[in-house]
Amino acid sequence: APGRVIFSGIQPTGVPHVSIELNLSAFCFANEIAQLGNYLGALSNWVKLQKTAAPDDELLFSIVGWHALTLPQDPETLATSRRDLLATLLAIGLDPKRSVLFHQDHVCAKLSGRDPFLSLSQNQAHTELAWILNCITPIGKLRRMTTWKTRLAASRNANNESEVDESLLNAGLFTYPVLQAADILAYRATHVPVGEDQTQHLELCRDLADIFNRTFPSSRPLFHLPSQLNTISRRILSLRDPTSKMSKSSPDLQSRILLTDTEAQIKSKIRSAVTDSIVGITYDPVARPGTSNLLTILAACTDDDVSEVVRRYEGKGHGHLKEDVAEAVEEMIKGPRAEFERIRHETAFLEEVARSGAEKARDRSEITMTQVRERLGL
Ligand code: ADP
Ligand code: NA
Repeated sequence: APGRVIFSGIQPTGVPHVSIELNLSAFCFANEIAQLGNYLGALSNWVKLQKTAAPDDELLFSIVGWHALTLPQDPETLATSRRDLLATLLAIGLDPKRSVLFHQDHVCAKLSGRDPFLSLSQNQAHTELAWILNCITPIGKLRRMTTWKTRLAASRNANNESEVDESLLNAGLFTYPVLQAADILAYRATHVPVGEDQTQHLELCRDLADIFNRTFPSSRPLFHLPSQLNTISRRILSLRDPTSKMSKSSPDLQSRILLTDTEAQIKSKIRSAVTDSIVGITYDPVARPGTSNLLTILAACTDDDVSEVVRRYEGKGHGHLKEDVAEAVEEMIKGPRAEFERIRHETAFLEEVARSGAEKARDRSEITMTQVRERLGL
C-alpha cells in the first residue's frame, strides 16, 4: 500500500481586534501563538505522528494565515504571529527535514532563485481550489456548520433575538470551511490530525471531495476521502467559560493558557479557572464541566487516564487539583517555551525553513491542480 498523506493546519492568530482589546498593549497580541488546547488536541499529535510515521508517509503541516483573516487582524501582529508560530512548531519538535512546514499564504514570488511569475502562478493552489470547491458547495451545507451557527448567534441583536447584525459577519466566515477543504484536498491528504472541534468541517471536506469526484468523473476518482486522525481525542475547554472550547479566538485572555506563558501566568490563570462549589473531585463533563476540564488537562499533561487521576483526589478539593494542574502544565511546556525563545530570534533559519517548505508544498499541490484544471476544462 502507498504511504499516507497526512495534512493539518493551525491559524497564526485568531484574536479579534475589538475595541476592548485596544487598551491592551500590543504585547498581548504578539504572544498569541498557540494555546494549550491546540497543543493537547493537535500539535502534540503531530509530533507523535512524526515519530511513528512509516518512511513513505508524507507529513505536511501548514500555518494557515488566510483563515486568520476571517476575523479582523492587526497587520503587524499577524506578521509577527506567522513567524512566531513557525518557531513554535519547530520548538515543540517538528523537523523540517521530515515534515513539510509551510505558510498557506506564502508568496513564492518573494522566494529567491525562482522565476517570480512562474512561482506565483504555481502557488495559488489553496485559493484556486477553494474557489472551485465553492462553486460546487451547496450553501445549505455551510449553513449547518456549528461554527457558522455560533457566529450567527453571536451577531444577533441583543434586544431583538431574531435580527442578525450583518455588519458583524463577512463572507469569509461563512465559506472558510471550503478553504479548509481545499487546504486538505490540494495535497490529496488521506489523514488529517485535528481536534474534535474540527470533525464537522472534515465531514464537509469529504462531502466536497465526493461531489467533485462525481461531478467530474474519470477512470479513477481524483480525491481520497480523508479521515480524521485522532491519535488521542481531546477537547480542552475555556478556563472561564467551560461550556465553550479554549481558543485563540476568544477575546478573554484569561480563558486560555499559551505555550509562551510564564509559570506565574499559568498559576494565576489556573487558580482563577471557573469550577463549581460541589465538595470533592469527580469527573462529570456534563454536571461539572470546569472541574472535569482541569482533570482532562492534568491527565493529558501527565499522560495518565482520567480515571486514574480522579482516584488521587479522594478527600481533596479544588485547591489541591489546581495546584497540581498548574505544576503539570508548567512541567510540560517549559522545554518548548525555552526552545521557542531561542529559535524565534534565528531569522535566517526561519526564513529558510519557510522557503523550502513552500517550495515542497507548491510542487506537491501543483500535481493535484494540474489534474483539477484538466477535469474542469481550464
Ligand atoms: P484556535 O481555535 O485556537 O484558533 P485553530 O483553529 O488554529 O485553533 O486550530 C488548530 C488545531 O488545534 C486544530 O487541529 C484544532 O482542532 C485544535 N484545537 C483548537 N482548539 C482546541 C481545543 N480547545 N481542544 C482541542 N483541540 C483544539
Ligand atoms: Na479556530
